[in-house]
Amino acid sequence: MYDVFSLPEIKFPDGFLWGAATAGHQIEGDNVHSQCWAGELAGGFRETSGKACNHYEMYRDDVALIRELGHQAYRMSIEWCRIEPTEGCFDEKAMEHYLDELRLLKQQGTYVLVTLHHGSHPQWFDERGAFQRIENLGCFERYLEYLAPKIAPYVDNWHTLNEPNGAWPISREMDTARTNKIKFHARAYRLVKSYSDAPVSYSHCFMQYMPKRHYNAYDNLITNVKDFLQHETWFHAIRTGELLSLYGNAESVPEVKGSVDYWGVNAYTRHMVDARIAPGDAPRFKHKELKMIAKDFYLEEMYPEGMTANLERLTDKPVYITENGCACDDDRFRIVYIALYLSAIREAIDLGVDVRGYFYWSFMDNYEWSSFLPRFGLVHVDFETFERTPKPSAYFYRDVIAQNGVTPELISRYLSELPTLSRRDRGASPAKMKVSE
Ligand code: BGC
Repeated sequence: MYDVFSLPEIKFPDGFLWGAATAGHQIEGDNVHSQCWAGELAGGFRETSGKACNHYEMYRDDVALIRELGHQAYRMSIEWCRIEPTEGCFDEKAMEHYLDELRLLKQQGTYVLVTLHHGSHPQWFDERGAFQRIENLGCFERYLEYLAPKIAPYVDNWHTLNEPNGAWPISREMDTARTNKIKFHARAYRLVKSYSDAPVSYSHCFMQYMPKRHYNAYDNLITNVKDFLQHETWFHAIRTGELLSLYGNAESVPEVKGSVDYWGVNAYTRHMVDARIAPGDAPRFKHKELKMIAKDFYLEEMYPEGMTANLERLTDKPVYITENGCACDDDRFRIVYIALYLSAIREAIDLGVDVRGYFYWSFMDNYEWSSFLPRFGLVHVDFETFERTPKPSAYFYRDVIAQNGVTPELISRYLSELPTLSRRDRGASPAKMKVSE
């Protein structure tokens, strides 16, 4: 891994776009018509999202803060379940709410990337089988026909689905949903293009897989299988129109071919594949279970070189990094993380990858799908009072944006020494730790 204090000056190409990302369910609060909300209330979740960051009420303040912190761009998602809480009935008040937020962003000159589906959808859509049933594609189309023309004047960039490639397809059901999602994406891509000239893509979950033991044939085999199924099948589908399935026959879907204008990349960590551990038991994102950054994350998962290596696979179209970030309570780790990953991205640019922008995940601490513990934000959120307080990393990032890069001087201004892991983080096994610790 690179040494953060030895980084040379890193400059990004002129016009490089800088911002941060969020998602509706994770920040808005009271998202009562979402299948996520229903799932949380049904139990099995560590915490429910509740009011989240109360962004639905505080969006004006948040929009202003985006500008104050020097961001040029903002990636947000629109909650389908607010706009269409019951099937076929559109809520004009909710629509007006989002239009107001988009107008405010545009008025202050923020470049807006809108994700049309980020993990959450209406409960009724879920009850119909969601992406499991290709017949449901018509529901998504009907919604987009309502939404897209209204928001098009304010959207500079679109994502159809967030991380549709994310699930590791081990069951026939998951395989079907994944193949269907490619079709949902392609249909949404074409529909949006009929209303907007702005670029359209999806967010690819670009986890880097590496064998736990590089000398072990089984670890290597499973690493390749995971990588191929999660990444290459998607790239292949979009480059050729051919959909590969683990269980069914390959299928040619012309609409899928060429259905991105650029690659949208969400990349955080690498994952060391131990083929002897069942997929469900594999330690993945252990750091998300913890309040503090942990040993496994620091020593294994945080791997900027993986970002460069993965980006090198995407030389056929421009690339935007649409999510990259780390969860930690000691904010100094975030500065290390951002500097190192930006350095890795710059390296990819030097190697010929046309990276055009970077969105840090996340603008503010938020609901991490089952818990408020992992804090990814540049801005600290007090989940009792909803007070927002920018962290030092927010000012570091503001200065990175202003300089269009990172300098050794900037790093030493915000980081006097390399943070070290606390004793607990160095030694404790997350599985044995209590969440309240
Ligand atoms: C998702 C976000 C999530 C982030 C951090 C990404 O995969 O798009 O919704 O919060 O990872 O775990």
